[in-house]
Amino acid sequence: MFRIEEFINATEQETMEATVRRACDAAVRDPLAQFVFVDRYTRWNGYAGALVAKLSGNIGESQDLFLDANEPDRAQAVRGMDVAGHVLDATVDEHLDKGHRVPHRTLAQAMRKAAADYAGLPLAERNALSEPPAWLQDVVARTFVCYGSVPHDAEALIRSIGTHIASESMADREYAIIDRVFRGERHYEGFYQYLRDRDFRVELGGKLVHAYAWITIHATFESQGVEADHLAEAMKALELAARFRPESRERILELAREGYRNFADIQRDFFVHAERECAAAAESRQQAA
Ligand SMILES: [Fe+2]
Ligand SMILES: [Fe+2]
Repeated sequence: MFRIEEFINATEQETMEATVRRACDAAVRDPLAQFVFVDRYTRWNGYAGALVAKLSGNIGESQDLFLDANEPDRAQAVRGMDVAGHVLDATVDEHLDKGHRVPHRTLAQAMRKAAADYAGLPLAERNALSEPPAWLQDVVARTFVCYGSVPHDAEALIRSIGTHIASESMADREYAIIDRVFRGERHYEGFYQYLRDRDFRVELGGKLVHAYAWITIHATFESQGVEADHLAEAMKALELAARFRPESRERILELAREGYRNFADIQRDFFVHAERECAAAAESRQQAA
């Protein structure tokens, strides 16, 4: 079995978590910074569900690429959907969460709306602040390229499975760190207390939607959420891809690691820029006060 340790070592993991932590610390400095963080993170993250579905579709469509070498009857040997299923697993709830009965995007929007209310932003300011800055457009464009992949191109598909492994393993840590900073460490103050005072509900399209569940369903600082399962499934997808491809396991791992590293660079850039923007937002408010 491939192991996550073959993609990231302990030092790299610590550096990645420290980068996420700095951005979260900057976010809680001020309600405006909090909104900027939530707006940026929900925008970037809002593409993940669709991109996972696209990757899964691209693998399943590539019927000539993933074949069982032990099956001489050619039509009986097609295994693309076996690989794709373990990718798709990560995005079923993304489209319609079993518990909340809405897409995860809706839960993210509930949190964004609550963060805008918490910062006391009038509508015009919400819209102006949500215009994606150049750095975010760049992060999103690079995410599109490395995640969705190319059907009928085995190397591109394996690289994107590596990207998917990166995304799921990092998301698990991101949500846990966000939850630690927002809830664990600021339980009785700040944004989390603001949500608690309102029973965590915001009105969205005529429905009351939980405005913090988006974080805790994915991971919490105390326990694992769905991201840990998604990662386990992503590793199974890579395992099956290796079984049904003629390349050596070493070559498969090399390609997946390329996709992993591409995404790790994007993820680092996201949190470095988010920290800067949140710090600047907090400082602008402190100067105005
Ligand atoms: Fe999700
Ligand atoms: Fe996930």
